[in-house]
Amino acid sequence: MENYLWLLVCACNIWVASSISSGIKWVRVNVPQYRVPGETAMLQCDYDLGNDTLYSVKWYKDHEEFYRFVPKERPQSNWYEVEGVNVDMSRSNSKKVVIRPVSWKTTGLFRCEVSAEAPSFASAQSEAKMEVVALPTENPVITGVEQEYQIGDEINLNCTSGRSHPASILHWYINEQQIQKPEALLIYPEEYHQHGLVSSVLGLKFRLSNHHFRGGSMRVKCVASMTPVLYQTDRESIVQTQTLPLREALLLVKSSSSRNHGHAIIFLFLVAHLLT
Ligand SMILES: *[C@@H]1O[C@H](CO)[C@@H](O)[C@H](O)[C@H]1NC(C)=O
Ligand SMILES: *[C@@H]1O[C@H](CO)[C@@H](O)[C@H](O)[C@H]1NC(C)=O
Repeated sequence: MENYLWLLVCACNIWVASSISSGIKWVRVNVPQYRVPGETAMLQCDYDLGNDTLYSVKWYKDHEEFYRFVPKERPQSNWYEVEGVNVDMSRSNSKKVVIRPVSWKTTGLFRCEVSAEAPSFASAQSEAKMEVVALPTENPVITGVEQEYQIGDEINLNCTSGRSHPASILHWYINEQQIQKPEALLIYPEEYHQHGLVSSVLGLKFRLSNHHFRGGSMRVKCVASMTPVLYQTDRESIVQTQTLPLREALLLVKSSSSRNHGHAIIFLFLVAHLLT
């Protein structure tokens, strides 16, 4: 596996069995937020049985059962083959399932179903989506930079994000002001790489004018961010959102006072890409 930082984003969910007063009170699924591939993901199923006795705990991924725990059976636990879900049986039980290792195929909707013994035979369930996300490990790169510009020149730059999944969202800034005018932004098709990774490309086009220079310099910055789509059901749910780190590239354009045929010549210096 290549050296990308991967993570899991969790949507945690609680199901309240309000109509049953003495039996199962609630079931809650909890999925960890961040993991790297090859590591372990522990999925917890927490529940309050009230006065009921546990009959079974069943786990499903995208509606396919992959693990079952029945206290009265021997063996008590069983697993079923489901893509992307490799259960570590020695560490799984009635309250948790350990998946190792995590891969792309692990992304999906995980449901825990808890059933009670006679006489109630009540059952309750809760589900949460787990997404495997790869953060870009590289900063975006700005291309199309000329050695010098003059006031009135059209500047044409491209910003290409590092590889990630899903695609990064790019924004351009001039002197810390986000560029939002559609005519200044050129949206190019995403570039596809191995392992489902994608890089985004966003162009910036503007005419250089004196007002871009503050104290003799202009900062052109490209920022890459990611907002994984988090799952949310219409039931009561707790969605844990995580602020994902930003990556950026910065160009510092210095104006020199030298004049050539009456025009100010602007020299460009590409400042080292900033890490955040
Ligand atoms: C549940 O069990 C508790 C004590 O174990 C008992 O006091 C209570 O009456 C029971 N509730 C129902 C509805 O059976
Ligand atoms: C930006 O990238 C697009 C797509 O790859 C390309 O067509 C275009 O010429 C590039 N522009 C610059 C200024 O590099």
